[in-house]
Amino acid sequence: MKLTRLFGASCLLFPGLVASLAIPKTSAVIDATKASINALNTYYDNTTGRWNPKVNWWYSGIALQAILDYMQTTGSEEYLAQAQHTIDIQRAPLDWYPQGGGDFRADSTDDTAWWALALLRMYELTGNSTYLDIAKEDEAYIFKYWLPETCKGGVIWNIPELKYKNAISNELYLELAASLHNLIPGDTFYLNRSMTQWAWFNSSGMINSQWLINDGLLEPDPSDSSVCRNNNAEVWTYNQGVVLGGLVELHKATGDQKYLDTAIKIADAVVNSATLSPGGILTETCSETDSCTTNGWSFKGIFMNRLAKLNKALSGNPYSDYIRTNEQTMYSNARNGSDFYGGIWQKPFDGADLGKQVSAVSLLIATLGLS
Ligand SMILES: *[C@@H]1O[C@H](CO)[C@@H](O)[C@H](O)[C@H]1NC(C)=O
Ligand SMILES: *[C@@H]1O[C@H](CO)[C@@H](O)[C@H](O)[C@H]1NC(C)=O
Ligand SMILES: *[C@@H]1O[C@H](CO)[C@@H](O)[C@H](O)[C@H]1NC(C)=O
Ligand SMILES: *[C@@H]1O[C@H](CO)[C@@H](O)[C@H](O)[C@H]1NC(C)=O
Ligand SMILES: *[C@@H]1O[C@H](CO)[C@@H](O)[C@H](O)[C@H]1NC(C)=O
Repeated sequence: MKLTRLFGASCLLFPGLVASLAIPKTSAVIDATKASINALNTYYDNTTGRWNPKVNWWYSGIALQAILDYMQTTGSEEYLAQAQHTIDIQRAPLDWYPQGGGDFRADSTDDTAWWALALLRMYELTGNSTYLDIAKEDEAYIFKYWLPETCKGGVIWNIPELKYKNAISNELYLELAASLHNLIPGDTFYLNRSMTQWAWFNSSGMINSQWLINDGLLEPDPSDSSVCRNNNAEVWTYNQGVVLGGLVELHKATGDQKYLDTAIKIADAVVNSATLSPGGILTETCSETDSCTTNGWSFKGIFMNRLAKLNKALSGNPYSDYIRTNEQTMYSNARNGSDFYGGIWQKPFDGADLGKQVSAVSLLIATLGLS
């Protein structure tokens, strides 16, 4: 496809796009980011259109998000054909969940949402409304599982068993609905959905007294199904991240400062936490107990991606030093000679993994986007 033409078209449709393409300051960071993406793409299997087809499908959704974010940050068009190829294959009905019926409808609401958010980025990059339309379908699919019968609302995570109102599904749904609003001129429908979702999330009890977000809610109280309490389960870094993205989108939609104030409280709780940021370096708790899987390794990049989004939205960019320090620490400690990265950014390379690599790429892109 002729990418210059697509860019020309998208610039006309989206005058804001040109201004958002930051000119990177240091070619060293560009080189490091490119090298990390080349290493990431050694996992890519062109036949299946997935990064490491042996591991969970959603990792390919966040790997896609990473290469799209790279292009948005730098203005490069290098991976657009790969992105389209990935989307065209993955939108077929899933062989392991044919009930979804295609277009990324999966057996868990979060899996659908990762892809839908990547499609919105693809829409921003190309102006091709097919991607917007698929993201709308996905929002409608996820909303079918917003069930008010228990916990007064919220999205169910596990679709086949209609079980578990958790943080990640509900944060992603917030970010998706609010992003849809911001991409559709004159929209009120997705604004209503995103505000309803935030009102629910804010009073759900998932944000704890330290302004950190636990994994999800307990099963409803048998005597009163509207009552669901915080399950006090793991504080994963990605659950502190995606919510920031949703709040930034809501602020953009409404101009209401309260959304940014809440995002700052959550972000500060992470960067000042002795467990999540010991010595100022983002750390997944599972790595302290040597129990991370590709899941756990992928979370830090998701946090950094959304922290960068919040940082950009705030005057004075208060998280730039945190992001830069993390990148420099990761680059000098956790990289091997072929630009694969380990999972513990303050320690030497501890073996490669798709989740570790996507996290590293996301942190490098976050750094690249700093003004
Ligand atoms: C990947 O597959 C597509 C479609 O089958 C093909 O056009 C493309 O050249 C392939 N890319 C690589 C790098 O092999
Ligand atoms: C828009 O994207 C879809 C899905 O990838 C593709 O089939 C179609 O050819 C694209 N349209 C244009 C005008 O590029
Ligand atoms: C969303 O729309 C419904 C139905 O019109 C309305 O009752 C509700 O108050 C709206 N919610 C918000 C947050 O605007
Ligand atoms: C969240 O809920 C609290 C308690 O009701 C309220 O004071 C606060 O304004 C809400 N925050 C946002 C950002 O809506
Ligand atoms: C870095 O790690 C990758 C993945 O395990 C490996 O293929 C590569 O050989 C390593 N590079 C060096 C220089 O050790």
